[in-house]
Order: sequence, then C-alpha cells, then structure tokens
Amino acid sequence: MRQCTRIGALAVAAVLTAGTTSARTDDVTFTRDIAPILQRSCQGCHRPGQMGPMSLMTYEDVRPWARAIRTKVVERVMPPWHLDKTVGITEFQNDISLSDREIETVARWVDAGAPRGNAADLPAQPDWPADNAWRLADEYGREPDLVVTSDPWTQTAEGQDQWWQPIVETGLTEDRWVAGMEVRPTLEGRRVTHHAVVYLQQEEQPGDHVAAVDVPGRGSYLTEFAVGKVGDIFRENTGKLLKVGSRIAFDNHYHSVGEEITSSTDVGIWFYPKGTVPKYRVFGQALGVQHAMATLDIPPGKVTIHHSYVSLPLPARLENYQPHMHVRGKAMSMEAIYPDGRVEMLNHVDHFDFNWHVNYVYTDDSAPVLPKGTVIHLTAWHDNTAANRANPDPTQWVGWGQRSFDDMYHAHVNMTYLTDEDYDEIIAARRARRSSND
Ligand code: HEC
Repeated sequence: MRQCTRIGALAVAAVLTAGTTSARTDDVTFTRDIAPILQRSCQGCHRPGQMGPMSLMTYEDVRPWARAIRTKVVERVMPPWHLDKTVGITEFQNDISLSDREIETVARWVDAGAPRGNAADLPAQPDWPADNAWRLADEYGREPDLVVTSDPWTQTAEGQDQWWQPIVETGLTEDRWVAGMEVRPTLEGRRVTHHAVVYLQQEEQPGDHVAAVDVPGRGSYLTEFAVGKVGDIFRENTGKLLKVGSRIAFDNHYHSVGEEITSSTDVGIWFYPKGTVPKYRVFGQALGVQHAMATLDIPPGKVTIHHSYVSLPLPARLENYQPHMHVRGKAMSMEAIYPDGRVEMLNHVDHFDFNWHVNYVYTDDSAPVLPKGTVIHLTAWHDNTAANRANPDPTQWVGWGQRSFDDMYHAHVNMTYLTDEDYDEIIAARRARRSSND
C-alpha cells in the first residue's frame, strides 16, 4: 500500500529546494527558517477551511501564536505524531513530525522575539490542491468508480466532541477489487471533522485462515481521513476485496468550531478493471482485539500493562501501524518475535493521544516483512490515575467496551500475506540493497 502523498511530496520538494537552512543562533527568521517548516508540517491543517483552529499561512497569521506554537512544538503535541523516534522503524510515508533541529529552530525564533526577516527569503507558497477535487483522480485519470456517502451530521456551535457512526450499503452487485481509496469530508465539514475512520462489513468465508479480524460491532478497518492522510493506493498487484452486499461503517469524530456546521463524509473508491484479480488481498486487521476483549482489566488509580501475542500463519508484510485505545490509553508498542527467538522493536507510540488517530504508514522499504511463525507482540499501557488529564474518573474500574469511557487496545494493521517465494525475493532484494549501500 502506498499512501497518497504525491501532492504533499511536491510541496516538500519545493520547500527543500527553497532551502531549509540551518539555524544560526543570532538570526533565525520567519521568512527563511520558519515558513518552510510551517509549509511542510502545519499548513496541511492550519490553513483556511481545514481543521486547524487558526491559519498559519502568513507572518501576520503566525505572529500572535508564536508563544503557543513554541509550547506545542517543544512538547511534541504539534504536529500530532506520537511515536518514540529513538527506537524502531523511522521511515514513514506520512511523517509530518519535526526533527530535533527544527524544534530547536522554532524555539530559538520565538525566544528571539519572532523576527520576520527578509521578504526575499520567503519560499513560494506550496500549491495546495483544490479543496473540492479528488486527489487520487490524477493518479487514476478518472473520478472514483464508486462514492459512498455517510448520512449527514450537524455539529452544534459549542459543545462536546461527537462520534457519528452511520452504516451505508455499497450497493455492489458483484465482488470488486479495490486499487485505491480516498476519504473526504464535505468542504464545510472539513472544519469540524477531526478524523473519519471507515470500516468494512461483509461476510467472509469461514475457515479462511487469513480472514480479517474485526473490531466487534464495527467491521474490518478499511481506510480513513486522518493526519496527513488522504487515502490509500495499494501496491502493485495488491488490493482490498469489496463483496456483494458489503456495507461501509463510518466512525466520524466531530468537534465544535463556534458555528453550527452540517457535514458528511465521502469515500471514493477506484476499482481494478472487472475480471482483474490482484495477486494479493490486503487484510485490514485489528491485531490483539480478541485477547484484549477477554483480558482488559484496569483498576482505579493504576497504570496497567497488557500484552497480546498474534502469530503469523504465513509470511507477511505489515503496511502500517495504528494503535487504538480510548481515553486511558497511554502508550503501545509493537514488536516482532522471530521464529528463532530474536526480538525486534518495530515501533513504540510513547505519547498516545486518543483524540488523534495517527496512522504510521511504512514506506516500500521500511514495511516489516516477517517470516511465517513470527509472533507480533503488542504491549499496551493505560493510565487510570488522576495524573492522566484525559481521565474522566480515576475512581472507576475500567474494562473492554465500545463506549469512549470504556477502554480497549489493538493495532489496526493492513496485512499482506506473501507466498514463500515472494517473501524470499523481497528479503534478498533488501539484503542486496543494504550491502550495496554499505
Ligand atoms: C493534522 C492536522 C494538524 C497539523 C499537521 C498541525 N496541527 Fe496544530 N492543531 C490542529 C488542531 C485540530 C488543533 C486544535 C486542538 C486539537 O484538536 O488538538 C490544533 C491546535 C494547535 C495549537 C493550539 C491552538 C490553541 O488554541 O491554543 C497550536 C499552537 C498549533 N496547533 C500549532 C501547530 C503547528 C506549529 C504545527 C506544525 C508544526 C501544527 N499545529 C500542525 C491540527 C493540526
């Protein structure tokens, strides 16, 4: 699966050639040092019409927020990216996080009084895509083959965050293979849509040893609208299967922005041509969910650690990692325990925030490719103490459940199960690349 970041990548390229120059202590300026950082890592959300509460496009926009920006950036709250970058895999398709050096640059700039700098240093504005275009339409040379739309929701001007979970029929009269997908709230709706997760509900063949493991009551993870992400383009010869009679279950998270806004979410789907069957079916799985349902036990006032182990029935490539917990969720790691006993930390999300469904999407080269019999080990930390600011009530015992004041833990991972030959080939190709780089 390749995530659609092409437009983002163009913007990044423009920024890089414009020069993210190193920060000298004396003269960090907005135009030369800060604007490129904001373009790459902030403006995707902080521009008019997007979900960020304020625009960070111009010096005039940014100046009043300088202090707040310093705090959020130094605490690594913004941009939302909750991974411990010191361990595990470090390459992702959708990485919007700031490097230590960029964080330092932002801090120095604010400490120096947030100077504007030379107008001539200002890089050109990236070409943000037209707000109402399907971004994958360029990739496929056509509008989506199928659009499934969630029932509308009206978010009040003020009030609590809301989760809206309508279920909509796809209307398919034959099975179809999905080549790519994009999720898009309506234009107005983008201001109030924090994220939208999309699940697939359909009958799977019993006995299929790689059948999707569903989130009970929801379905298997299909795709989403979330941080830095507009859709999925499945790798060559891979795709998801949508069956006759399938349904799309939306999980739209809305927040209030001071005015009443009605929103719905579209899923645009591009199919493989009729009759074309990709070699591999990609399965959206909720790893660990069954074990978590049976065992999650979070006493009042405690920080708990739970483990679950999922063994791979076949060689597999893990396309992404997206931990899922609720308000008491604190951290989650995913390790691979190889058949020979070797343990590898794949990734650790050390400052999980349930408000953000951050999906860490691996690149072609960084996606873990694991042999049959590997055990995926998930470790989940929940904080049910008063120190957890998101905790509504540290005196409550908490168990597994769907409501946001219950808790859960699992990892949404798109799994591509490989043949032994393809597994050997991918591993050999990676070895060859590594040794030629040495
Ligand atoms: C994925 C979207 C997204 C990205 C990327 C993002 N933000 Fe935000 N930001 C938000 C949203 C939404 C909020 C509102 C609070 C929340 O929901 O967490 C916010 C809140 C903030 C706030 C607090 C505003 C307040 O009211 O106090 C600051 C400051 C901020 N962002 C700065 C940044 C900076 C600087 C960057 C880039 C380095 C960035 N953000 C990247 C979405 C984003």
